[in-house]
Amino acid sequence: MKNILVVGSAGQIGSELTLALRNIYGGDQVVAGVRKTKPSEKLLETGPCEVVDALDKEGLVSVVDKYKVDVIINMAAILSGTGEKNPMLAWDVNMNGLINILELARERKMKQVLVPSSIAVFGPTTPVDNTPQETILKPTTIYGVTKVAGELLGDYYVKKYGMDVRGLRYPGIISHETLPGGGTTDYAVAIYYEAIKNKKYTCFVNEKTRLPMMYMPDCLKATIDLMEADFDKLNYHCDYNVGAMDFTVAEMAESIKKHIPDFEISYEPDFRQDIADSWPNSVDDSAARKDWGWKPDYDLDAMTEDMLKAIGEKHKKGLI
Ligand code: SER
Repeated sequence: MKNILVVGSAGQIGSELTLALRNIYGGDQVVAGVRKTKPSEKLLETGPCEVVDALDKEGLVSVVDKYKVDVIINMAAILSGTGEKNPMLAWDVNMNGLINILELARERKMKQVLVPSSIAVFGPTTPVDNTPQETILKPTTIYGVTKVAGELLGDYYVKKYGMDVRGLRYPGIISHETLPGGGTTDYAVAIYYEAIKNKKYTCFVNEKTRLPMMYMPDCLKATIDLMEADFDKLNYHCDYNVGAMDFTVAEMAESIKKHIPDFEISYEPDFRQDIADSWPNSVDDSAARKDWGWKPDYDLDAMTEDMLKAIGEKHKKGLI
């Protein structure tokens, strides 16, 4: 049996991951750790919920001891866009929050720690197509800098203390339950909401921008499959590339037009264009496929159909 704490449980990935883990391990076994974002009714109804701030080690200790937590998942982070507006905040949350969690896991001899990484570890000098697992890590965003440091730190705890620390380099994650906040890939979520609400969208990166992306059901599958994988079969620890699909914004718009023919897109690139341009077009995830059987289910058109249906229903109910 595991007692899991998800730090950052009200966020885009955390909110759905917490519910998915509760379905597998039982509601009481998975504590939702939230800071200031209001948790959804579903999170509150399906299991324990505690106020947790990754920067408050004493608060973390009391929740960990109260629920005898032995697996901790750190989903709290300042993403790339917000990070560029406030680099010191990104450093503080992403690094000091992480070290608090790793140290607590070491002190309490926890069974496992999950520390997510991102395609933001790559930079303008990294090969852009089919970016290899082992390659140049020279990001030009503070978010990317903290993610490279986080991967190395996690791997250090594996080697130095024999701990089980794991992580994946998430691509842009697309979902319809909880909105992302402050990321460069957020346009790939906003486009669907605006298509339903207004039949038009002005994108903050240009039409040719191509990035690796993943639909939430695949993100949950990748995360849980990596957590469940046999430790001895892992050739990497905190830095697995995971791919699912890649497309340009223009290709996204075409996919949406198959359902909403009069959808219109325009472009007003801002500072996030440079960030997007510094990230890969696609990633080589053969290590994840070989070591723990990674295989995505969704492509662009399958995701578009699902997203438009789910957001369309929310719209009809007046929820958005
Ligand atoms: N989605 C993140 C961002 O855009 C990348 O990990 O910042």
